[in-house]
Amino acid sequence: MSGHGEAQPMKSRKSGPLKGVAAVPGDKSISHRSLIFGAMAVGETKISGLLEGQDVLDTAKAMRAFGATVTQHGEGSWTVNGVGVGGFQEPADVLDVGNSGTGARLIMGTMATTPITATFTGDASLRKRPMGRVTDPLSLFGARAYGRQGGRLPMTIVGAANPVPVRYALPVASAQVKSAVLLAGLNAPGETVVIEKEPTRDHSERMLVGFGAKLHVEKTAEGHVITLTGQPELRPQTVAVPRDPSSAAFPVCAALIVEGSDILVPGVSQNLTRNGLYLTLVEMGADIEFQNPREEGGEPVADLRVRFSGNLQGIEVPPERAPSMIDEYPILSVVAAFSHGRTVMRGVKELRVKESDRIDAMARGLEACGVRVEEDEDTLIVHGMGPGGVPGGATAKTHIDHRIAMSFLVCGLAAKAPVSVDDGSPIQTSFPIFEGLMRGLGAEIERS
Ligand code: S3P
Repeated sequence: MSGHGEAQPMKSRKSGPLKGVAAVPGDKSISHRSLIFGAMAVGETKISGLLEGQDVLDTAKAMRAFGATVTQHGEGSWTVNGVGVGGFQEPADVLDVGNSGTGARLIMGTMATTPITATFTGDASLRKRPMGRVTDPLSLFGARAYGRQGGRLPMTIVGAANPVPVRYALPVASAQVKSAVLLAGLNAPGETVVIEKEPTRDHSERMLVGFGAKLHVEKTAEGHVITLTGQPELRPQTVAVPRDPSSAAFPVCAALIVEGSDILVPGVSQNLTRNGLYLTLVEMGADIEFQNPREEGGEPVADLRVRFSGNLQGIEVPPERAPSMIDEYPILSVVAAFSHGRTVMRGVKELRVKESDRIDAMARGLEACGVRVEEDEDTLIVHGMGPGGVPGGATAKTHIDHRIAMSFLVCGLAAKAPVSVDDGSPIQTSFPIFEGLMRGLGAEIERS
C-alpha cells in the first residue's frame, strides 16, 4: 500500500449494466483539512464522514506526532483535541506521509511558523514530487528547508522562531500551495495575503472561516486576493465531511460507458471549484440528472442519476477549467476513448507532477489499449473510438497512482478485452471501498 507494500495486480472485464446506488466515501481534501484545522483549534473537533483512506490516516498520525489527540470512534467518526495555533510540539521521529502531496504540503505550512523542526518523507511517488513550490513561500515567513536535489523529500523544515507575514502571488494554480501559505500565516502576526490568478479549490478558505479565523476574499483584476489575519484562536468545530466528487467520478464515468447502466450517486459536491468534470461530461452529451440540490457539510451537493450515454462527443475542454477538475483528467480521458471524435485537454501540465506523470501514464496505457493519443508538455488529445470501440486487452502501469489504477479498471468494464493494472494497491489512498462498491454495481473487477 502507498508504494510501501506488495503490488496488487487487478483486472476488469466487459460488464453487464451497472445498477444501484454508489455511496462514495468522504472528500479527501476536506478530510485532511478537518484533521489539521482540528489540531490547531483549542478543544474538541468532531468529524463525521471522514475518509479513512491511507492518505488521511497518515495525516492523522502526523497530527498526533505534533501533540494533538486524534481518536477514531466508529466508521468515519473521529475527534481531534487540538493544541491551538502555534502549539505544535516537535515530532520525536521522521513523519512519513505516505503517498500524499496534500498531507506533506499542508503540514509543512502548518509547522513552518512554529519554532520546531520536522523531517518529512513519503513513498517512492511522493519522494519524486516538487516541494520547492511550498518551501519557497514558507522561506518568506522565515522558515528554512533542507531537502534533496530539486526540493524533494526527505526534507527537514526548521520553523521560523519570529515569523513575519507574507504577501504571495501563486506562480502555479495550486490549492496545496495556497493552503500551505494560509496555514503558515495563521501563526504569523499581522495579515498574510495570497493572490491566485485562477481560482483553485476553496476548502481551506471556507473551513478557516468556520473555525473562526478572520479571512476575506476579494475579487480583483489580479485575481482572488485572500487576506488572513494571523494568530487567531481557532474554535473547535463539528465537521460533516461531504462525499468526494473526485471519487464519485469513477462510478459516474463507468455508468456512462457501460451499456444499459443506470445508477444513483448521492451527495456529489457541486462546489464550483470542484465540478469541472461534471460540466465537461454534460457538454459531451452525458445523461446526468442533478437531483435534489442542497447543502451538506457547508458544500452545495446534488444526487446524480447517471445513465449509459451512447452518443458522447469529444470536446475541447476549456483550459481555464483545469483547476476545477485537475484530478479528473485521467478518468475523463477514458470517457473520451469511448466517445466520438477528439477530446482535447490543454493547459494540463500540472498533471505531470501529480502522484505520477498522469499525461504519460494515461497516454501509454490508452495506447496499449488500442486508443490513439497525442501529447505534448501541456496537452493530451484522445481520439475517441465510440461506445464499445476500445480494444483493451492490455496491462496499464499505474506508477503508484490511485487515479491511474481506477481509470484503467473503469476502462476495462467497457473495452472489448479485459484490462489489467500492474498494481491496484494505491487505490487504498483515496477510495478504499472502490472494489466492493464497483462490484456491488455489477462491475467485473477482480484481483489477479
Ligand atoms: C488538493 C489540491 C490539488 C489536488 C489534490 C488535492 C488539495 O493539488 O490535485 O489531489 O486538497 O488541496 P494541487 O493544489 O497541487 O493542484
